[in-house]
Amino acid sequence: MSDGFNIVILAAGKGTRLKINTPKPLCKALGKTLVEYVIEELDSFSQDQNLQADFNVIVGHEKDLVQKSIEKNFPNLKINFIHQKEQLGTGHAVQTFFENNQQALKNKNTLVVCADTPLLTQDIFFSLYSRLKRNDLEAVAATFMATDPTGLGRIVRGEKGFSIVEHKDASDGELAIKEVNAALYIFKTQYLRSHIDSLDTNNKSGEFYLTDLLKKDRNVSAELFEDENLFLGVNDLVQLELAEEILSARAIRKLQRSGVIVKKTSSQYIESSVEVGRESIIYPHTTLIGQTKIGQNCIIESGVVLKNTVVLDNSVIRANSYCESAHIGNHTQVGPMARLREGTKIGDQCKIGNFVETKKAQLDKGAKVSHLSYVGDAQIGENTNIGCGFITCNYDGAQKHQTIIGKNSFIGSDVQTIAPLSIGDNAYIGSGSTINKDVPDNAFAIARERQTTKEDMAKRFLKKK
Ligand code: UD1
Ligand code: MG
Repeated sequence: MSDGFNIVILAAGKGTRLKINTPKPLCKALGKTLVEYVIEELDSFSQDQNLQADFNVIVGHEKDLVQKSIEKNFPNLKINFIHQKEQLGTGHAVQTFFENNQQALKNKNTLVVCADTPLLTQDIFFSLYSRLKRNDLEAVAATFMATDPTGLGRIVRGEKGFSIVEHKDASDGELAIKEVNAALYIFKTQYLRSHIDSLDTNNKSGEFYLTDLLKKDRNVSAELFEDENLFLGVNDLVQLELAEEILSARAIRKLQRSGVIVKKTSSQYIESSVEVGRESIIYPHTTLIGQTKIGQNCIIESGVVLKNTVVLDNSVIRANSYCESAHIGNHTQVGPMARLREGTKIGDQCKIGNFVETKKAQLDKGAKVSHLSYVGDAQIGENTNIGCGFITCNYDGAQKHQTIIGKNSFIGSDVQTIAPLSIGDNAYIGSGSTINKDVPDNAFAIARERQTTKEDMAKRFLKKK
């Protein structure tokens, strides 16, 4: 028998208390599914401890959805999915594991954990494992003091060890106990295997309780952990939000400790996948999502949303801008209230001002679009300045077309360019023009009605007082 681990993640339950269709393991906190947190932490634990770990996930309710999601998120981890057809309790889930995994006995230890505890850290796994080995125990369970123990299994300690009594089965005296079962255990596989089939359903729920294997007269131990937050189990949407708050605080503290200035942390939504460089400042109420990367010395003002967006060093994203899958260079300014859509690539020292929308647009170094414009399917060359109210008319009702503008050009205000179209370098387009023919390098183009002025005629149109 190797010193390896079976990791058994219980994820088959219905999650009835959530009252939503999404299966509980796939509920998201801070952009990640609950079960992802559990698997990630276990994976780091087994890698750091150099343990041979075989991952098993017990699935039942919405099993295909759960399996697909986990496989997508962990393409490089070999995970065995085991179908528990009927959910007859946590003990039954582990019975199902042994019935369906003939290799189980080759691993000396078996760690059992629930898919709904996203805050567990590898320090806890390590601590339990050390205790198991040090005291040569058959099993070890994690416990904590719950401020509100309602619904949880109580740890009833006696002179000879302890036992776990589920809330429903507890006497009034036992209900007063605050120490509860975290539902995280490490067993010697041999012990678990030889006792798992002896469980019965003689309890109020009529379920096979895994907790019945931790009994007073056995060589088992319960380790009390101090921080109850680490063990928060998500059973309803209130607990989902609580878990998210704690995860969020963890992610933000990590940024702060790495030199990022984060204001009013309770107002921030920053996913743990987000990277931010030193001395950047994140003002209140920002939303930073997915693969967003912000460089050093950046300023992200209030109300900004960045989804999968890269911002290089020394740039400023002003208030209430919304950027999705965009790339923003160094020393560039965006917003306030700009919208950068997918495929936007803004170079260094550029300026995108208020009420500017871009999509599949490339702006080269020093280009400026300062006010109220739409730039879609376009390339704008270095140092070209675009006035207020510019529109690339990129869509003819059937297809999208490209607009290409060279470098050092000037586009006056209220210009529309009807794509496909190209304007060369050092060109000048007069304000108010609708340009539908290419403009070569160095040319001046203007396309607007000539003005007519009639002396003293205004009174015909002005209302008489
Ligand atoms: C369980 C513990 C309780 C502990 C609490 C901590 C038991 C009997 N009770 O209760 O002592 O205080 O966790 O949160 O173990 N599951 C299956 N198959 C089943 C039943 C459950 O896979 O047949 C899975 C669920 O999807 C869930 C986990 O096991 O991920 C725990 O089940 P849940 O119903 O949440 O147990 P609790 O009532 O919370
Ligand atoms: Mg639970």
